[in-house]
Amino acid sequence: MKCEVLLIGSMMPELEARLDADYTVHRLAQAKDKEAFLAEVGPRVRGIVTGGVTGASRALMEKLPHLGIVAVNGIGTDAVDLAYARSQGIRVTTTPNVLTDDVADMAMALLLAASRQICQGDRYVREGRWGKEGLPLARKVTGKKLGIVGLGRIGRAIAKRAEGFAMPIAYTDVTEIPGVHYRRIPDLVELARWAEILVVAAAGGAQSRGIVNAAVLEALGPEGILVNVARGSIVDEAALVAALEEKRIGGAGLDVFVDEPHVPEALWQMDNVVLQPHRASATVETRIAMGELVLANLAAHFDGREPPTAVV
Ligand code: 8YV
Repeated sequence: MKCEVLLIGSMMPELEARLDADYTVHRLAQAKDKEAFLAEVGPRVRGIVTGGVTGASRALMEKLPHLGIVAVNGIGTDAVDLAYARSQGIRVTTTPNVLTDDVADMAMALLLAASRQICQGDRYVREGRWGKEGLPLARKVTGKKLGIVGLGRIGRAIAKRAEGFAMPIAYTDVTEIPGVHYRRIPDLVELARWAEILVVAAAGGAQSRGIVNAAVLEALGPEGILVNVARGSIVDEAALVAALEEKRIGGAGLDVFVDEPHVPEALWQMDNVVLQPHRASATVETRIAMGELVLANLAAHFDGREPPTAVV
């Protein structure tokens, strides 16, 4: 008898095929009436496969009395009720390491695109404006001071790349990170005042909600660039839109938003903003590696072994 799992969201077709081969998969996205669907399959479900943004709420887990594992296809656990999972002995696994390079690459891509006005230049060519009108000069990246909010695996991978651009690097994190030579500026306003480009790479959740606020953006200044590849919740989105509208910061490169897929429409019109639809880990190579890890975690759990990348 195959174990039954609930799939929230989607994975690459080949990975879903492998999931189907090993488990009876119930797809929440395909259910017309989600409540009725959960009432029907819920008592048989022993595992959830979900994305980092979707996670698993307490309300959902409560509908699955035999739930043993929440396998997140991502690293964020901010949308999983970890305290509830812990209290019920439900394992929670994520996909660390395999997406680090991609997310750091995306941070650099956004940083470069926003500073060098890559999308503006692209539009200028496609719209046939080249040769007919001017295009303002962009801003240099090499040598710019980079502030990193959250020096975990992804923050360090961004720093490593930024070293190649001769960027002085400072960071803020809850503690001093051992083994790095970057300067720690614990106060976020101070870090933003020092930095010319501020990249958000911290974990989402209650502890980081809204920490990049109006004061931080003010300190970043009219030429400063904000990049966010972490969670929209970390930035006060209304304050960011206002700061961009009033030119109190120079520009932004954003992969994540407070209420995805909703992106404030004010941002759509802004030339100094580069937008991505939460794509930092969205490469074929990385999504395969993430899916493999999801399958490995499920297999270990259902075999009675320790899942390779459990957080709870
Ligand atoms: C993914 C993410 O886009 O890792 C995370 O927490 O947000 C992203 O890598 C998401 O998990 C895909 O489901």
